[in-house]
Amino acid sequence: MEKNWSQLWLNYRKSEDSSQKKYFESLEVRGFGESKIIANAVAELELATKAMFGVTIQQKKPDQTATLCIEKVDPEGKDGTYELIQKGHQLSLQAATERGVLYGVFHILRLLSMGKRLDSIRLKKEPQNPLRMYNHWDNMTGDIERGYSGNSFFFVNNEIVIDERTRDYARFMASIGMNGIVINNVNVKQCASLLITDRYFDKVAELSRLFGEYGLTLYLSLNYASPIEIGGLDSADPFDQRVIGWWETKMEEIFRRIPNLGGFLVKADSEGRPGPFTYGRTQADGANMLADIVKPYGGIIIWRCFVYNCTQDWRDYKTDRARAGYDNFIEMDGDYHENVILQIKNGPMDFQIREPISPLFGGLQKTNQMLEVQIAQEYTGHQIDICYLIPMFKEILEFDTYMREKNSKVKDIISGRTLGNRYTGIAAVINTGNDLNWTGNVLAAANLYGFGRLAFDMELSAEEILEEWVALTFGTEERVMQTIKEMLLPSREIYEKYTSPLGIGWMVTPNVHYGCSVDGYEYSRWGTYHRADHFGMGVDRSHNGTGYALLYNEPNASMYDKPETCPEELLLFFHHIAYDYRLKSGKTLIQHIYDTHFEGVEAVEKLITAWESLKGLIPEADYENARERLDRQLYNAREWRDQVNSYFYRKSAIPDEKGRAIY
Ligand code: GCU
Repeated sequence: MEKNWSQLWLNYRKSEDSSQKKYFESLEVRGFGESKIIANAVAELELATKAMFGVTIQQKKPDQTATLCIEKVDPEGKDGTYELIQKGHQLSLQAATERGVLYGVFHILRLLSMGKRLDSIRLKKEPQNPLRMYNHWDNMTGDIERGYSGNSFFFVNNEIVIDERTRDYARFMASIGMNGIVINNVNVKQCASLLITDRYFDKVAELSRLFGEYGLTLYLSLNYASPIEIGGLDSADPFDQRVIGWWETKMEEIFRRIPNLGGFLVKADSEGRPGPFTYGRTQADGANMLADIVKPYGGIIIWRCFVYNCTQDWRDYKTDRARAGYDNFIEMDGDYHENVILQIKNGPMDFQIREPISPLFGGLQKTNQMLEVQIAQEYTGHQIDICYLIPMFKEILEFDTYMREKNSKVKDIISGRTLGNRYTGIAAVINTGNDLNWTGNVLAAANLYGFGRLAFDMELSAEEILEEWVALTFGTEERVMQTIKEMLLPSREIYEKYTSPLGIGWMVTPNVHYGCSVDGYEYSRWGTYHRADHFGMGVDRSHNGTGYALLYNEPNASMYDKPETCPEELLLFFHHIAYDYRLKSGKTLIQHIYDTHFEGVEAVEKLITAWESLKGLIPEADYENARERLDRQLYNAREWRDQVNSYFYRKSAIPDEKGRAIY
């Protein structure tokens, strides 16, 4: 079948350099036995080398030495680890597990696609995060919560779809080293509650088998109130014996019908979803009850920490949504059972363009933790505006929590290095849909690729990852490479400049979360305020205010607590600041706001010029796709600039020093 959808970064093209063909003459696989994963790895090799060199790799003949040898080594070795060694006429790929072979093969293909040579290669790679997951927020009706690239390719009209696209999706995921996929939205409602019933078992099992053939473990989001909604009980109290009994029977059935299921992701007591709080129980009580029941099947419970009061009174200056995750989870540190992982959003609020790191990282000392980020561009431009998020993720991973004297960065905690635990990792809310290019904006695929690569190897730089993606997607032409790098590397800062300043966030159109509405959330129940008056703006989270700054370990707590030492990009997150306050640049706060907003729009204009210089150098459909979105980005940036500037001019009555148009 002719595929009319994009092959993304697995778009194998004819190689300019035929010297590497020699490694793909004959193949030997040693020590692995019958295996679907190995078969798929070999199939990928065949597909790619055919496209690159026009050769079909042959099984080695008995009297030959294979040019490519895939070999099982070190059976105790870490899952996913591989070694590539070139010696004489042979390239050897050694791995302890089948996943390692898969990753090693994709490594070889990546190098070739980037125009690199395999001669004298000697490297060893091991995945740094035990769990590397994508979370789909796909609904069974087919729509996607916060989806900006069409509808779901897993679910159509409450049915599960498995076709060639599903297989391609699995290949993409394997190629970047992912090992876990949650297929359904964390808000589990309607038919999604029935995914753990006979109605869907066969299809979920089929999908989970397909995933398994690419080293991916399938997980489901779970409805905490299932005992009520599908079990007919009148309670979901984790201490109620009837509830426990119901789950025991249910889990036995689920793991029998979907044998390689990894476990469950749970959003409880959050934004109207049910949870243990209803019964006066803690989050740990709820998580542990489920974890104990899935344990015999090797299952894990990934429990989200996005728990806060979403019916706050805006008049209330004491309640601080930023504190909620910490306050709801910290006390039970040490009580969570071994197969519970707390999944923590990077920031204490909700995926804004700039937030501090959640103080749960570094606060929790005895609990398995996973970092949750979002590549679906909910608050970062809806895959209309360009926003390469890997630089931001790097900042998050490199943040030092000072929980210990060393090895206390977020990357240490989530990789298991700090606490020596094995159930840890990283997850991203994914940005895919059934658009033919998968991510709406072709350039948003850089995040899809980049998150996986970063999850596997947190030492890669945002630039290295981008270089890989550009080469694999658009080829190695120098101008294309340079231009796309110049566009994408600063794109997060550009987006930040024309939207909300200095960490305050939230000045978005309510519900939709695209476009400017300075007061959109100011008088609402969501706990997301800027508190602007005619003297200044920002939320006082210091010891004088909500005390949030003090939730961090020292020296971070003192640093955030004082405006003079608070990193300026987060100044308004932590402090209420006067418009005439002087920043380190010498500019006043208000002038900084004006300047950055003008600069942001100018930068978008430059993005357009840069992209236009690539016309003819990249495929026409891709070119037009991003070109059209860039126009929308420019419109968006102008609206933001003029609304934000006018709003704060009207509040402050301080004119722009440069006399530019403000309304
Ligand atoms: C955000 C988002 C919701 C989502 C929620 C979550 O609030 O807007 O759509 O359900 O995060 O992470 O659970």
